Amino acid sequence: MLNKTAHLSPSKQLAMNYFRVAIVLFGAQLLFGLVIGLQYLFPGFLYEIVDFSVARMIHINALVVWMLYAMIGSVYLMLPDETGIEKPVGMGLGKLAFWVLTAAVAVVVVVFLFIQVGPGKESSIWFINEGREYLEAPRWADIGIVVVVLIFYANVFFTYMKGQKTGIMTVMVANLLAVAGLYLAGMFFTDNISMDQYWWWWVIHLWVEATWEVFVGTLAAYALLRVIGAKREIVEMWLWIEVLMLFGSGILGLGHHYFWIGTPEYWWEIGALFSSLEPVPLVAMFVHVLYDWGKEQGEHEAEGKGSSIKNGPTMAWVTTNAFGNFLGAGIWGFFHTLPQVNIYTHGSQFTAAHGHLAFFGAYATILIGMMYLGIQDSYGLKRLKATFKSKMAIFLITFGVLGMAVALTIAGYEQVLVERAELGAGWQAFFTAQNLPWYIQAQVWREIMGVVTFVGFVYLVWDLLTIGKVEAAAEAEEA
Ligand code: HEM
Ligand code: HEM
Ligand SMILES: [Fe+2]
Repeated sequence: MLNKTAHLSPSKQLAMNYFRVAIVLFGAQLLFGLVIGLQYLFPGFLYEIVDFSVARMIHINALVVWMLYAMIGSVYLMLPDETGIEKPVGMGLGKLAFWVLTAAVAVVVVVFLFIQVGPGKESSIWFINEGREYLEAPRWADIGIVVVVLIFYANVFFTYMKGQKTGIMTVMVANLLAVAGLYLAGMFFTDNISMDQYWWWWVIHLWVEATWEVFVGTLAAYALLRVIGAKREIVEMWLWIEVLMLFGSGILGLGHHYFWIGTPEYWWEIGALFSSLEPVPLVAMFVHVLYDWGKEQGEHEAEGKGSSIKNGPTMAWVTTNAFGNFLGAGIWGFFHTLPQVNIYTHGSQFTAAHGHLAFFGAYATILIGMMYLGIQDSYGLKRLKATFKSKMAIFLITFGVLGMAVALTIAGYEQVLVERAELGAGWQAFFTAQNLPWYIQAQVWREIMGVVTFVGFVYLVWDLLTIGKVEAAAEAEEA
């Protein structure tokens, strides 16, 4: 994906730039994940060189940032197709914003690595670390991110206003405003930790369980149009229904983070009820993808045209997304969403199991799928067939993350039984549970499965770098 962009409109070229940085950050995320996984087993590993707290922070911030990059890339990829405008209105500014953002991300990471410990002062919030999990970027970078995102948004919005207005693009433009607006809730500081957490969850929960999910709905709709030639009316009808359900359950589902942070007790009922409904739209999204696929494929075969799939890897990743979103967010989320259960599982390895499976299933998958669409466009290919490397990549990454999630679920189960139920959740109970064989074995398996995931990632990069050329040669030969 590094070499050929001659066929591309300016918007899609910029999309490819965003994808390139995203994949590099994804690699960094996995490497730091392997480091903290090892530190679970050997606490002295890299002590005072890359401390657990810092490596963990880089692991999850790289995650959020690569996904934001891939999301912006996906929007620039679909923009010309959906609006009919090849060159977004503020293309020059859009490119500048990309470089500014990338430079800022690099500076933030370097500072994280060089200043790992120190006093927490007003100036550290501004220049080193803002201290909110997933959003640790210092405030100067926060403000920079807001400016860059405003440029991006203006670009998308005015291009949309000028071009044709499809349902997919309408949802995208409205939803992006909500994604960007919510970020502001994580930018101001309050001395009261309950209040701070209260607002912080507006970003974290309302991103991943409302606005990002709607984002994924629009990506899946766009991908189904392109990859299997689904009918726009049907895809868009599903999209509107999904949006309604996602917001309907996701917004007040926020309550499942307000059980124990000092917020009023009515949140128990609100959180329990609405968050329990959250899996419903995820089922709908799952059914939607499989239904459309089956239908198009059936019609295609009836007409004797063979397979309807124009991009094999994208279709494989979108299907994995439908399944993984339901499993990781829906099922693993539902497991611990009732306060009666959450009182035992809160902040355990079970939470980490869900976090891994959900972020991977709901977001990593479909964003990788979008990268393959970008490659198809870069080489101007009518069809992109999965190669051996594409298959190894999707198999190893999915198997690895699933394996990690299972291992962490076992560790979480042990914590619930021993640390919480049997020993009463005290300080000593925590350490006793951490040192029992079941827990340690689970952590060993997590690391092994992490290595499997990383090998899959190597295949993915290799495939992304080569698949376009291979397929272009094959297409030329056929012609
Ligand atoms: C794609 C969507 C989702 C993603 C990416 C996601 C991710 C996460 C992550 C990373 C955490 C840990 C946050 C922390 O650091 O404390 C978390 C917590 C939680 N999630 Fe999700 N989640 C998703 C959807 C859901 C759904 C649909 C449900 C319920 C049906 C759910 C229920 C919960 C609960 C109850 C917690 C709190 C766990 C605790 O008390 O420790 N999540 N989620
Ligand atoms: C090489 C593979 C990976 C390894 C070894 C790994 C390891 C870890 C470790 C050790 C933690 C810290 C847990 C703690 O604080 O107790 C963590 C946190 C986290 N990782 Fe990974 N990880 C890997 C890949 C991934 C992937 C692919 C994703 C998502 C796409 C991901 C998402 C997360 C999230 C959301 C958290 C925070 C969870 C929470 O606070 O509950 N990781 N990871
Ligand atoms: Fe949530």
